[in-house]
Amino acid sequence: MNVLVTGGAGYIGSHTCVALLEAGHSVVIADNFSNSRRDTVERIERLGGRSVKLVEGDVADERTVRELFEQNAIDGVIHFAGLKSVPESVAQPLRYYRNNVFSTVLLAAACIEHGVGKFVFSSSATVYGSNDVPYREEMELRTPTSPYGSTKLASERILTETAASAPGFAVTLLRYFNPIGAHPSGLIGDDPNGVPNNLMPYITRVARGKLEKLKVYGNDYPTPDGTGVRDYIHVCDLAEGHIAALEHARPGTQVYNLGSGSGVSVLELVEAFERVNGVKIPYEFAPRRPGDLPAYYADASRAERELGWSAKRGVDEMVRDAWNFERNL
Ligand SMILES: NC(=O)c1ccc[n+]([C@@H]2O[C@H](COP(=O)([O-])OP(=O)(O)OC[C@H]3O[C@@H](n4cnc5c(N)ncnc54)[C@H](O)[C@@H]3O)[C@@H](O)[C@H]2O)c1
Repeated sequence: MNVLVTGGAGYIGSHTCVALLEAGHSVVIADNFSNSRRDTVERIERLGGRSVKLVEGDVADERTVRELFEQNAIDGVIHFAGLKSVPESVAQPLRYYRNNVFSTVLLAAACIEHGVGKFVFSSSATVYGSNDVPYREEMELRTPTSPYGSTKLASERILTETAASAPGFAVTLLRYFNPIGAHPSGLIGDDPNGVPNNLMPYITRVARGKLEKLKVYGNDYPTPDGTGVRDYIHVCDLAEGHIAALEHARPGTQVYNLGSGSGVSVLELVEAFERVNGVKIPYEFAPRRPGDLPAYYADASRAERELGWSAKRGVDEMVRDAWNFERNL
């Protein structure tokens, strides 16, 4: 397949492009580099052993999307391009809706117009809202707690309704849990701009001395050690989940959780990082952050049953690869 990967230079996109090349697919990356670097594309080519086509542009821009589809024979789309900071989305909701939702509308419309039958979308566990654990795909979704979450829910609905109206259009909604880690080469990984919102890049920057101390938000949650529990998944496992989703695409809408299926607390992750990498992580407790949930993790059995995919890499591998990437920067 010739796969259009929007946001292909980003954290999850870059690992997925490598996995696509390794699986024998061709890749067209569309990225505006708003949260990534151009040299990542060369690294993808190095790791994947083949070249990719790069289109620098904004996929929330109608003309860019039209030209992408007119100038490339695309068989499938993986739509990663999106803004992903929860606090930023609260401050700038319209920017988030324009970027994340408008891009989905334009790309879906272009697929229908050009007869592109496969669309894989980067959704998030955030669409479950505050729900019982483990999260299962068939659960009723709760109102998201941020504009970021609302853009994911809106995009899911737009794609589901489009698939229902267009015979042959295959939509796969992938609800990611918490991707961490990096490619074992250390060439690509998570390198967010500014102070990280996510735990793992925060830890690696503390380990490197770029930040002084880790802030652990909340130590009085009803969890075994009082800190928040999340479902961490190695980014290379997540990338492989996209290949499985593309290869099993079928008309209508399919929904899959991509997670490990088990919960790990903040302190357990810090302990694993220290043990595996032999580096101390100074930390202090801070008040809970509004909107953060005590604990959530996936029921990942549907993806295993229907896609033949499950997460293979454990927490030790995740923290090792994250640190290897940080030291390589
Ligand atoms: N990382 C996570 O924890 C996580 C969890 C759940 C869902 N997701 C979703 O997965 C997707 C990828 O996340 P990521 O962690 O790789 O983020 P990322 O910021 O590293 O990658 C996103 C990429 O999209 C590009 N981009 C953004 N808006 C664009 C636009 N309008 N046109 C072209 N390119 C654009 C950015 O430059 C970047 O390269 C996002 O949609 C995100 O919401 C991420």
